[in-house]
Amino acid sequence: MFVKINAMGLFGLNAFAVDVETEISRGTPTFDIVGLADVSVKESRERIKAAFRSCGEKFPPARVVVNLAPADTRKAGSVFDLSILIAVLKAQGRINGDLSGTAFIGEVSLNGDIRGVSGVLPMVLCARREGFDTVFVPADNAREASVADGVTVYGAENVREIIDHLNGEKLMKPAEPYVPGPAEYFEKADFADVKGQKPAKRALEYAAAGGHNLLMIGTPGSGKSMLAKRLPGILPEMTFRESIETTNIHSVSGLVTKENPLIVKRPFYSPHHTISGAGLCGGGTTPKPGQISLSHNGVLFLDELPEFSRPTLEMLRQPLEDGQVTISRASGTVTYPCSFMLIAAMNPCPCGYMGHPTKKCTCSRQKAKEYINKISGPLLDRFDIHVEVGPVDFKALSSSEKDEESKVIRERVQAAREIQKERFRGTDITCNANITPDIFHEVCPISKDGMELLESVFEKMGLSGRAYDRIVKVGRTIADMEGEQVIGKKHISRAVQFRTLDRKYWND
Ligand SMILES: Nc1ncnc2c1ncn2[C@@H]1O[C@H](COP(=O)(O)OP(=O)(O)O)[C@@H](O)[C@H]1O
Ligand SMILES: [Mg+2]
Repeated sequence: MFVKINAMGLFGLNAFAVDVETEISRGTPTFDIVGLADVSVKESRERIKAAFRSCGEKFPPARVVVNLAPADTRKAGSVFDLSILIAVLKAQGRINGDLSGTAFIGEVSLNGDIRGVSGVLPMVLCARREGFDTVFVPADNAREASVADGVTVYGAENVREIIDHLNGEKLMKPAEPYVPGPAEYFEKADFADVKGQKPAKRALEYAAAGGHNLLMIGTPGSGKSMLAKRLPGILPEMTFRESIETTNIHSVSGLVTKENPLIVKRPFYSPHHTISGAGLCGGGTTPKPGQISLSHNGVLFLDELPEFSRPTLEMLRQPLEDGQVTISRASGTVTYPCSFMLIAAMNPCPCGYMGHPTKKCTCSRQKAKEYINKISGPLLDRFDIHVEVGPVDFKALSSSEKDEESKVIRERVQAAREIQKERFRGTDITCNANITPDIFHEVCPISKDGMELLESVFEKMGLSGRAYDRIVKVGRTIADMEGEQVIGKKHISRAVQFRTLDRKYWND
């Protein structure tokens, strides 16, 4: 007897529908899985046979052939276990009913339990696109799957439950659709704890409001790391679409939990400087997302920037520009989105005291230059905002006066984002930093005197095309923060001020 059951496969972020075709015929008992299935899939034979015994079913003493179609797409992992098992049962006549609108996702363990798998959300979203109305997933993944509305999700603990449900003997309860609550901001670290450092705080506020990359340079112990760690507390809310995108990436990395099935708070990753290129940008035999993709729609913070290996830093250039990263391996090519805000902090020289008002810098010219040149021109060019974080004076540090709280700053950031949401409605653009060339002039009108200022600094500072582009975008954000339609001279002037440290530190 021949049957067809629906399953879902995944490569990178791309989920695809798989037909599990099964035929049982007379002959020497065998169990074969064909259709470009890799070793991990072939291993499911043993698990499935054991699971049959465990749930009191008899594996057919016949020739069993399973074909995973389309046969030209590579299939990997244990995610097809459940669908193959159901297909064999159905071909044996042990399961009744029409399963044409149902898909099965999950790994089966030897005792018939169903184990959680990664990548459930993108697979269920794909099942919905394919027009399936019902999916069976591991109980562990049920909350994650129920984020996709418009499809009935059943979370199963074991195989027996599913058999009894499909045969109408004991019905399972579908998972409740997941409704996310508002993002919770319980950041213990508040901007109010950071004394002084007004320009840096202002710069971080602009960065959060427009999604801009930012570089902080300053002497040790001035509060750079402290400031960056407080950024998550002022980031704007995620849109639902951003949440889904970011959750998909975490899902394929196996990082979605039952407690937090949907990521509603912008991610903030801060890898150590010993991280490898693959860890940062993605890699592995079946390429997994790196930290830049996990930070999608959020923040990647690189503290002590020059301590990262230069090749690793250079790998960031293309993804920073494109908002996505493509990884090629023997198993295939995968593209992951990585539209993140890059925040970096560094000392101005190895000893840290170059330019300090009272302490003397002990670095030789050569050493200082080598250090600063770890950050290449093209990488530096990708920071929209540069800000110097000077030493805090005693008066500010010892003052008991509270500075502005993160909550107040976040409200301003959110207001600027609302303007952007309206501006970019119907496009893929999420914030000012991502404005594309085709709408650049339309959404960035500059006043006449603003344009004159821009022209004069362009020539005086020898700006690159990219620098020009980024100054205007930061100007756009500053104007939004002030609720102004047209980018004026004062906005341009402030954006330019935030772009001068390359000349101070990287010039001989
Ligand atoms: N502006 C500041 N306000 C309050 N405390 C500060 C400030 N700057 C530094 N500190 C104190 O010094 C410590 C080190 O600051 P940190 O952010 O690690 O400096 P950096 O990263 O610039 O070297 C902080 O944990 C904090 O206790
Ligand atoms: Mg630090």
